[in-house]
Amino acid sequence: MVTAAVEEVVTQNSVAYCHRGDDQRLLSEVIRVRGDLADLQVFEETRGLKIGDRVDFTSEMLSVFLGPGLLGQVYDGLQNPLHDVADQVGYFLVPGVYLHALDTEKKWDFTPAAEAGRTVTAGDVLGTVPEGIFDHHIMVPLGLRGEWTVEKIAPGGAYCVTDEIAVLLSEDGQSLPVTMQQSWPVKIPLNVSVARLLPTEPLVTKIRIIDSLFPVVRGGTYCIPGPFGSGKTVLQQLTSRHADVDIVIVAACGERAGEVVDMLHEFPLLEDPRTGRSLMERTIIICNTSAMPVAAREASVYTAVTLAEYYRQMGLNVLLLADSTSRWAQAMREVSGRLEEIPGDQAFPAYLESRIAGFYERAGCIRLKDGRTGSVTIGGAVSPAGGNFEEPVTQGTLKVVGAFLGLSRARSDARRYPAIDPLDSWSKYTGIIDPIESAEARDLLRRGNEVYQMMAVVGEEGTTVDDFTVYLKSEFFDSVYLQQNAFDKVDGATDGERQKFVFAKCLEVLRLDFEFEDRQQARRVMFAVTDLFRNWNYAAWETDEFKKILSQIDERIASKGRTAERGRRQESEQSPDEEKPGRK
Ligand SMILES: Nc1ncnc2c1ncn2[C@@H]1O[C@H](COP(=O)(O)OP(=O)(O)OP(=O)(O)O)[C@@H](O)[C@H]1O
Ligand SMILES: [Mg+2]
Repeated sequence: MVTAAVEEVVTQNSVAYCHRGDDQRLLSEVIRVRGDLADLQVFEETRGLKIGDRVDFTSEMLSVFLGPGLLGQVYDGLQNPLHDVADQVGYFLVPGVYLHALDTEKKWDFTPAAEAGRTVTAGDVLGTVPEGIFDHHIMVPLGLRGEWTVEKIAPGGAYCVTDEIAVLLSEDGQSLPVTMQQSWPVKIPLNVSVARLLPTEPLVTKIRIIDSLFPVVRGGTYCIPGPFGSGKTVLQQLTSRHADVDIVIVAACGERAGEVVDMLHEFPLLEDPRTGRSLMERTIIICNTSAMPVAAREASVYTAVTLAEYYRQMGLNVLLLADSTSRWAQAMREVSGRLEEIPGDQAFPAYLESRIAGFYERAGCIRLKDGRTGSVTIGGAVSPAGGNFEEPVTQGTLKVVGAFLGLSRARSDARRYPAIDPLDSWSKYTGIIDPIESAEARDLLRRGNEVYQMMAVVGEEGTTVDDFTVYLKSEFFDSVYLQQNAFDKVDGATDGERQKFVFAKCLEVLRLDFEFEDRQQARRVMFAVTDLFRNWNYAAWETDEFKKILSQIDERIASKGRTAERGRRQESEQSPDEEKPGRK
């Protein structure tokens, strides 16, 4: 942090540059003004700055550039394109190197959508350029007030983002040249719409435990708190790959550099299930690893959400994944500490909760002027120290999100992935499964856990056959439905249609009154059914294999497991070695 003496007028949150002796300019933000002193947060190492060095103030707030060419980019928290920076200065970043966020030389194929003489307001589409699989809308600058008239519009053709593509005229005769790029201050929500809609459309992530038990909706918010190493990052990456949205923005905030490098290597190689092309074409990665300056970390989540809002403005569905918001909160704590503010719980600033709420509130579903809708869904990972969900960041997040997907150490230790705890988690949204039925499944899991706890004390012998069956049923549902093998092509991603079908089948088993004679029989039958369902999970949808296993399952359900039981008894009488039930 730097304190500067100012002569001119400076505004809170405006951008300033600190000049270092070697002619480098370090980007900074005014975070407090005290009389003729301004406290600046420098987004770089302050080493080398000396008393008496010059500071230049600007009247702009910390902003991002918006325009075609954002998709597929990897930015740092201040929107420096990292691949280009690396080309210029090598892999070790040098303070003071800021590059333009968008490629200014690339030509885009512009098709005008408005004609001269038309009256327009902020957000209206002036033309489109193809960007990946989308039509990128070139919009009337989003911060513009009042009505403007299109005075001139460029004919279709190839243009750079800095070329003038239109001239607008205000009511009082002021003319404004418009290019394909515009800028927006990151800390101000970007939302030019006629209505904010209640988010109701389920967002299918293809992860069964989320979609069926703790659903997320487009335009909604959720958080994934979990102790270290419980699988938050893996879960975020799975959702980024499979979630049914147009654009994914990943904000890797304070994560280990190695993990981010893995992601950067992996993403371009991943195939987008929708297009068959690289997944990176519809992804933007914002990374501010633990090795990069802390101050810029605070900016990185705002940069990410602003880019998400920009694409929502084009009528697209965007998913923003922030990993992890705890590290973002720690950056806030650090800055607050330097400002010597009165600390709140665990030294976090007193405004922590309102900042967290402010961030998640930027999610939402909006209706645009022309009737289209767009959404930003925010999923944030939270990493509470020691897995203690009582700490301020988790608590602050809980109050504002619509779904809570808590990971548990016990489940990840038992390698029950995804390690979302079905007893702790909740969602306020309605997904693809009838809420009454999903509540029924959750209730069974809860009862199964009660029996399990009881068995830990009194042993298996101390339980009745009925209670024991409840426990076996909950284990069955857990292992065939809630757990999912992320590395398998079929089991790793289950689409909505299949989930509804398999869930209904599971429910048939859960509702069945098996009338077991003893625990031995109960165990044998439930294990056999579990095996069948597990194999079923690996069979691709509606293939012959899928249908074959389905008919075996139906047969078992019809006979309460007994036919097969009898069949196998006969089998084992003939050859005792074939005791093992049917898993191939
Ligand atoms: N769905 C999964 N399937 C298989 N293995 C998994 C799964 N999820 C997590 N793991 C295992 O757990 C390890 C830790 O996961 P991950 O890095 O996502 O944890 P994390 O919660 O992000 O940790 P941290 O808090 O340290 O960032 C992974 O390297 C992987 O081996
Ligand atoms: Mg992680």
